[in-house]
Amino acid sequence: MSDDDTKDMVETVDVSPRDPDVPQAPGADVFRQLLHQAVRVADMANSQAMRMALDFAKVYEREQGVREEFENQLKQMTLMEKQATRYAEDLAGMLRSERERRQELERALAQERIASEELRRTGLQGISHLVLAATIKDRTTGTHLQRVRRYVEAIAERLGLPANLVEEYGYSSVMHDVGKIHTPDHILQSEHHLSDAEFTVIKQHCIDGEKMLGTARFFETAREIAREHHERWDGKGYPDGKKGAGISLAARIVSVADVFDALTSKRPYKEAWSAEAGLKAIEAGAGERFDPEIVAGFVALANEGVLERISLEVAASEDDDHSGAPAK
Ligand SMILES: [Fe+2]
Ligand SMILES: [Fe+2]
Repeated sequence: MSDDDTKDMVETVDVSPRDPDVPQAPGADVFRQLLHQAVRVADMANSQAMRMALDFAKVYEREQGVREEFENQLKQMTLMEKQATRYAEDLAGMLRSERERRQELERALAQERIASEELRRTGLQGISHLVLAATIKDRTTGTHLQRVRRYVEAIAERLGLPANLVEEYGYSSVMHDVGKIHTPDHILQSEHHLSDAEFTVIKQHCIDGEKMLGTARFFETAREIAREHHERWDGKGYPDGKKGAGISLAARIVSVADVFDALTSKRPYKEAWSAEAGLKAIEAGAGERFDPEIVAGFVALANEGVLERISLEVAASEDDDHSGAPAK
């Protein structure tokens, strides 16, 4: 029986006017009450079912939404995963080619290192030949050049120059007088005061030295030193009368080291000065003949005992190499 049928029945019962004179069949009230209750229960059940249906619809709708959202997210994740895979593949490819490029570069650098090392060896061999020729001609001793080199390296290091420049200044300094190969012996070995004309010839050794050292980059500093090691801080030197920082730093350093060693060494025309006397002469020349900053560094090296140590070490190595014979 449907709800409508039940209602119809109740209405039918309700609308029938009850005649008080007509005797009621026994149990009619009970039946009416039961019917009312049944209709109420049916109503409640009905609205309950409606509510449940609505709730279910809502839940279903929400779940449906959640599911769609989930599906969308899943789609996005799949898309992102694909993208990430592509990126990873691209990256791996890039890394591969980067690694290959780096390996190629390392190979090229290794070859470059071998080539430049060979060049350096060739250059150093060239230096030793040049220096040998110059020392034979000039009667300078190898120890003079060794000490000058060590003093120059010590000063350059003290001035805070990088290691490669310290080395370059050092090996370049031994060539400061190579131009003397062209100077006539009678002038070079003269023990008398030089005439103006002879002095003009002497000055030429700076220009000749620079020329002899060619155009290779390896000898660039050596060329500056050869040309400028007789220039003076106050501009009164030769051959160009350059002044102050206009003279290359390497040549300014060599100038101090060379003069100090010349003063403190024995020469055919003079006795060796003491280190103290030589240092005093250098200090006196600060700001005139020499760059004051370099002199200050040199004095500090003397006070620390570095100059004396170098001098002793060079003398000892000479004894070891040549059993006391004069250096070549
Ligand atoms: Fe010189
Ligand atoms: Fe010298």
